[in-house]
Amino acid sequence: MINKIAIIGLGYVGLPLARLFATKYSVVGFDINEERVRELNRGTDDTLEVSDDLLQSVLVQDNPFKNNKTGLYCSADLEDINDANIYVVTVPTPVDKNNRPVLEPLLSATKIVANVLKKDDIVIYESTVYPGTTEEECVPILEQISGMKFNKDFFVGYSPERINPGDKKNTVEKIVKVTSGSTEEIGKVVDDLYKSVIVAGTHLVSSIKVAEASKVVENSQRDINIAFVNELAKIFNSMGIDTQSVLKAAETKWNFLPFKPGLVGGHCIGVDPYYLAQKAQEFGYHPEIILAGRRLNDSMGKYVAEQVVKTMIKKDIHINKAEVLILGVTFKENCPDVRNTKIVDIVKVLEDFGVKVTIYDPWANPKEVIYEYGIESLQKLPLSKYDAIVLGVAHNEFKTLDLDVLKKEKSVVYDVKGILEKCDNRL
Ligand SMILES: NC(=O)c1ccc[n+]([C@@H]2O[C@H](COP(=O)([O-])OP(=O)(O)OC[C@H]3O[C@@H](n4cnc5c(N)ncnc54)[C@H](O)[C@@H]3O)[C@@H](O)[C@H]2O)c1
Repeated sequence: MINKIAIIGLGYVGLPLARLFATKYSVVGFDINEERVRELNRGTDDTLEVSDDLLQSVLVQDNPFKNNKTGLYCSADLEDINDANIYVVTVPTPVDKNNRPVLEPLLSATKIVANVLKKDDIVIYESTVYPGTTEEECVPILEQISGMKFNKDFFVGYSPERINPGDKKNTVEKIVKVTSGSTEEIGKVVDDLYKSVIVAGTHLVSSIKVAEASKVVENSQRDINIAFVNELAKIFNSMGIDTQSVLKAAETKWNFLPFKPGLVGGHCIGVDPYYLAQKAQEFGYHPEIILAGRRLNDSMGKYVAEQVVKTMIKKDIHINKAEVLILGVTFKENCPDVRNTKIVDIVKVLEDFGVKVTIYDPWANPKEVIYEYGIESLQKLPLSKYDAIVLGVAHNEFKTLDLDVLKKEKSVVYDVKGILEKCDNRL
């Protein structure tokens, strides 16, 4: 009998994993969002992480658990995951407006699994969490609702996800996967499962807490490194020194880390450090570097907007009612994900200055941008002229865009991403 795997949450992480497992196993992808399930069963992925071809190559019309066949069936019906023997949880783990971890989706997914849990089943968590979440928050729910005993009747594992949305090179099977299990034996089972599909291999660790911690540490390290170069950008801008040139020179040393200044948005790098910080505080340690990095990176949208306005003033451009075009609203390049995008911080500050902002982003879904932030974004380039153009996201489309046709007689071009040959100012 082949493994029957239920993936709980079919987003940026869950769908690519479900597709991959479905090449070897019976997979049911479960999501509470019926619209998402319908779209996937039609063979299309709105997040653009899995191509239509790849998705359609594994999709099956009937629940594959019934006939022990390989393939992926997507469903919003709990009945469809009843017969799984492995559950993989890939639901969001965001923070609230005070940057505190929100475990609600994770715990509600855990309740869903607990209701269908059977003897010897394994529940593997992939959502990013602070160390201790799986065993201290999720396992008690699994035990209580299922009435079964942890590590006797059922088992858990944790394997953090490392996919990088929009990156078509480093796809899920090509990234080494950290694995862990609630017992030594289950650790091996979990590791073998991932090893069977992850071409890049796996790294089995000694405990679930080590695996959980490794993920938040990866992203916190990245956040802190970006915060450092953002701080350098602020320092060198005030000195009139070009930061990009400084970094390029420093990068010629073999052990200099090539980080670039920029906005840190999205649901990983800007969020995960808060998970680690929260847990550290519960243990009486107040993280200094981690939270300083967060503060610095969160200040960059405002900083960029102020720099744009300063540059406009220097060129004698009247600020009130000035028209500014922002190129890009997604949180990163070549991907439609707008979650936690820091472009909205730029918009807010510019609007506070009385500026009229237009956003053009061929990747972002305008409905989603309105829904999330109450701001309009266009998928077609408006044929107008602007007092300032802000290159906010490095989408490929923007690299070849002729900015001259969008400029008024006096205009400012501000390059947040450091990719334009010609600009008036940049981070
Ligand atoms: N996106 C990334 O780049 C990335 C990378 C590594 C790790 N992660 C982590 O993976 C986790 C998932 O992130 P994502 O980007 O895939 O999120 P996502 O928002 O793209 O997808 C989550 C999906 O889960 C569904 N969902 C929510 N609650 C549910 C429930 N109770 N039952 C079933 N489905 C439910 C949602 O409808 C959604 O389709 C998070 O912890 C995130 O931090 C994300």
